[in-house]
Amino acid sequence: MPAPKRVFIKSYGCQMNVYDSERMADALAPSGYARVDDPEHADLVVLNTCHIREKAAEKVYSELGRLRALSQARAASGRRLAIGVAGCVAQAEGAEILRRQPLVDFVVGPQAYHRLPKMAARVEAGARGLIDTEFPTEDKFDHIGRSAAHRAAPSAFLTVQEGCDKFCAFCVVPYTRGVEASRPVARVLDEARALVRRGAVEITLLGQNVNAYHGRGPDDAAWSLARLIGALSEIEGLARIRYTTSHPNDMADDLIAAHAENPRLMPYLHLPVQAGADRVLKAMNRGHTAESYLRLIERIRAARPDMAISGDFIVGFPGETEAEFQATLDLAAAVGYAQAYSFKYSPRPGTPAAQAEQLPEEIKAERLARLQARLDMDQAIFNASRVGDEIDVLFDKPGRATGQLTGRSPWLQAVHAEAPPDLMGRIVRVRVEEAMRNSLGAVLVAA
Ligand code: 5AD
Ligand code: SF4
Repeated sequence: MPAPKRVFIKSYGCQMNVYDSERMADALAPSGYARVDDPEHADLVVLNTCHIREKAAEKVYSELGRLRALSQARAASGRRLAIGVAGCVAQAEGAEILRRQPLVDFVVGPQAYHRLPKMAARVEAGARGLIDTEFPTEDKFDHIGRSAAHRAAPSAFLTVQEGCDKFCAFCVVPYTRGVEASRPVARVLDEARALVRRGAVEITLLGQNVNAYHGRGPDDAAWSLARLIGALSEIEGLARIRYTTSHPNDMADDLIAAHAENPRLMPYLHLPVQAGADRVLKAMNRGHTAESYLRLIERIRAARPDMAISGDFIVGFPGETEAEFQATLDLAAAVGYAQAYSFKYSPRPGTPAAQAEQLPEEIKAERLARLQARLDMDQAIFNASRVGDEIDVLFDKPGRATGQLTGRSPWLQAVHAEAPPDLMGRIVRVRVEEAMRNSLGAVLVAA
């Protein structure tokens, strides 16, 4: 048995990073690393970083600054703290990270995690300044065994697709995660079955462009996401299936039909639109118009009338006028989002839009505040519409107050209720008593 060691992995950014962090922990387990939730107790710290906006990337350097103190204190007591940077900042900045923060022992890109144990071993043996930001052709996850020892969370993530070919003018994803690639159907099904055996009741299929999924099926044909979801629905014990994030242009008819026909497919869809004016959408290279997006939403709601629509917005894209921003507000109002994320445009090095003249920060901030007020209001309306209803909740976390559990509604709302701890991991009928902006309060309904 290798000597026991401890690794602290911190995830930034999207759910794909949360999944990747779990898999990094799995990859390191055979080398004797146990995952801990505090860097103070770790022999190895890995920051799994996000490069989507400037703020996200800068957080990494602040964290490295804090780790410096810890590392120095450690060195004074004769022990070493190894530090690695993984994820999209690692991919995008590579050697620049070592230059800015020489404390870092290794840099590993999102496609090379299966090589993490070897890198960690080399660092233990005294190597420094290692970089692996290659895009190997093999599927990294085929080289990482899920650790069977741990129970899965009631609601688990499963990455089925990575990367993106859309090249929106603002986005680093095609550069950091690479072009679109789908995992084969058999691998996804195996992993899903293993998750369910270990206690997962709900699986969220992840991909930067998940509805572009086209993994190779056992019949050698490329399977659509809808077909994959159909096969997953046959796994006994898997009660709920979700997927995120989707692009409007990949919202295929069979996927829309699956929402009408498959009760295990949850009525929640994250479908970013980014902006409401056609000129801006074109400049963003989105490949759709406001009108085509709204028509798509209509078709989706015709298939599944209670569908909760979620979205992403960017305000202050280069050249955005007040009238164009108004079109974004109008589009948001027309959709009535159940919830949504909105961001100030942040120029990313290497992307086409970063070259253009930028709008002043005050304009971006002011537009963001107006859009968020609209989105918050719609979210409150959506939540309030459930008060008095009996709904199913999958409890997956202890609640904030003792005696409470927190779970998710079919529409992905957080739901709090007084509930005994043995209902954790179960789908339970509750009645919604009150609606907050970000969550619902409910009581158990006697069976
Ligand atoms: N600036 C601001 N927001 C961005 N996003 C992606 N790139 C940028 C950027 N350069 C947002 C988009 C995307 C979400 C994941 O992050 O809205 O859908
Ligand atoms: Fe980025 Fe999404 Fe556009 Fe792909 S579709 S380039 S991931 S914003």
